[in-house]
Amino acid sequence: MSVVICLGGQWGDEGKGKIVDLLAESAQMVIRSQGGNNAGHTVVVGERTFKFNLIPAGILHPETVCVIGNGVVLDPKVLLAELEDLESQGANLDNLVISERAHMIMPYHPVLDRMEEGARGDDRLGTTYRGVGPAYSDKVRRIGFRVGDLQKLRFLEKKLSFVLPLKNDALVRLYGAPPFTVEAILAEYTDYARRLDRFIRDPYPLIQGAVARGERVILEGAQGTMLDLDLGTYPYVTSSYPSAGGALAGAGIGPRYVGRTIGVFKAYTTRVGYGPFPTELEGSLGEYLRERGSEYGTTTGRARRVGWFDACVARYAVGVNGIDSIALTKLDVLDELEVIRICTGYRSKGEPTDHPMANISHLKHLELEYEDVPGWQQSTTAARQLSDLPGEARQYLARIAALAGAPVDWVSVGAERDQTIEPAAW
Ligand code: IMP
Ligand code: MG
Repeated sequence: MSVVICLGGQWGDEGKGKIVDLLAESAQMVIRSQGGNNAGHTVVVGERTFKFNLIPAGILHPETVCVIGNGVVLDPKVLLAELEDLESQGANLDNLVISERAHMIMPYHPVLDRMEEGARGDDRLGTTYRGVGPAYSDKVRRIGFRVGDLQKLRFLEKKLSFVLPLKNDALVRLYGAPPFTVEAILAEYTDYARRLDRFIRDPYPLIQGAVARGERVILEGAQGTMLDLDLGTYPYVTSSYPSAGGALAGAGIGPRYVGRTIGVFKAYTTRVGYGPFPTELEGSLGEYLRERGSEYGTTTGRARRVGWFDACVARYAVGVNGIDSIALTKLDVLDELEVIRICTGYRSKGEPTDHPMANISHLKHLELEYEDVPGWQQSTTAARQLSDLPGEARQYLARIAALAGAPVDWVSVGAERDQTIEPAAW
């Protein structure tokens, strides 16, 4: 029961990086279970700020084994840049393992991502253009390239000679883009193979060993439940499964070993890209929260859409993931507000409902029920235990816990590691 799943309960960017970094202190292993370099995590340690796209947040703890898991798609070029940056800042990479089963983003994937978005016109999704969707589609179509293929370059070349004509056909004929050649891709990936070789392994024995010994293993999710391919606001989703089921599939661990599932939620809501967002705030209040919360994407720099905390989304995330504990982040962003709103229910075509429904055109046209709670109008950034928080802030946490159906066990009140209220034992 030593496995802890740490996942996003909203539309991503909940602050999972900071929470995983804290949890990693007492963990022997952290596994990134899904997603790719569409994700971005920021971890602040003293004067230094680390930005990760692919590397598990636990890398800053030298004793922790960090695994890039089976369910990830990675762009080797991006990964190598991240590795070099970390090495230049003195991080120890000896405990990094990249699963040979993880898939690779190939040079045509980002190009196709951009072309497909363009072709969707007004209905575009607002992807990160990193090639994540096209790479996952190829995985499902069984024409993907896995990290392990870097250790079998003849095989990689043979597969390219079959796959590349399919890709070039789409690029040239549908989009009028220039084709790729087998020679150029092979040369590029041969170089990556040389530089990544020392990290590539089958993590199966390591992971099973850790689980069997009862070591603490953290599954680090990327994105969030509302971006899940099945459970989220399809088609305005990412191409992987950021939910608890996806975390287990992506790591290769069975549910019986899971001791706790932590859902990370922001004290309000944000979303990047297009698609329904019931509690979205437009106008000056939205603007204010965006600036105060620095709500700009780690990966793309895009301004995030912002809105009130949506308890319907939270309750749904608690249900579909089996969340035991909520980690609520960025509470301090709300410090100055006079009144804070929580969405407690939806009405769709006059009918009350308490969860985000599959039909996104209904989800886009809801009437919302709100509960207003008084703000605390003082700084929470120095709070280190619940009793340090003003009464109104504790009341806000209690309402969130009651409405979502899970206790708020962690609260983050600033970007620094120590600006966190942690449970005494967990
Ligand atoms: P893709 O994952 O690049 O295909 O993008 C699909 C949708 O997921 C877009 O709305 C992106 O903005 C969103 N998305 C992807 N990764 C993240 C993330 O790490 N945080 C927040 N949104 C994300
Ligand atoms: Mg992010």
